[in-house]
Amino acid sequence: MSTQTAVPVPTGAAAPGGVRLRLPGRTRTALRALHIVFSGGWLGLAIAMLTLGLSAALATDAVFAPACYTMMDRFGIAIPIFAIGSVLTGVGLSLATRWGLVRYWWILVKTVLAIATIVTAVGLAGAWRQQVVDQYGQVVDVPAWLLVGSSGLHVVMLGVATVISVGKPWGRTRRGQSRARRGTGPKPLDRKSR
Ligand code: HEM
Repeated sequence: MSTQTAVPVPTGAAAPGGVRLRLPGRTRTALRALHIVFSGGWLGLAIAMLTLGLSAALATDAVFAPACYTMMDRFGIAIPIFAIGSVLTGVGLSLATRWGLVRYWWILVKTVLAIATIVTAVGLAGAWRQQVVDQYGQVVDVPAWLLVGSSGLHVVMLGVATVISVGKPWGRTRRGQSRARRGTGPKPLDRKSR
């Protein structure tokens, strides 16, 4: 197998100078499972938000749309739990494996996507949701469509994070490359050792 295309092993001894969490294999596997549960749950909630937002924006009856927004408010309570859970377990996994936090593009891109999703959800979607609930029925609901748009964007961002988690594309960052040159980076693929 060519080492150029090999996916690295995310386990092994700590790299000198790098932050490393030492976890037994079973704990690391449990953390990985937890990360997938939190991340998949977060994506699922984003899909639910999009479905409810779209249903409300297209609703013609006076009872259905407010009911959708009430449901969105309830889901709005659960989302931070899954988002924070996903980020914390993700960072933990990165530090507990040789993937590191800044050595691979797929990890960096995922981190940016996760943070951007949280910031826009907290800064924009929450406020728009409140506005829609407060003003429902009074004006043509511009925030209703902004809510649909932002939920759609979140589904795309978290969907991309999921896809790149599986494919792990784009190789090492410059920092990861210099570690590899010094012989402290991950070795070529051995999927069984994950
Ligand atoms: C701060 C943000 C994140 C970090 C640092 C992070 C880090 C990681 C790491 C290091 C792994 C590999 C675990 C291993 O091979 O043992 C992983 C796996 C995974 N991550 Fe994340 N992650 C983050 C956010 C996300 C998000 C937002 C999603 C999707 C919504 C996600 C979905 C997944 C999935 C599905 C896997 C399993 C991939 C596989 O087993 O092939 N992660 N993550």
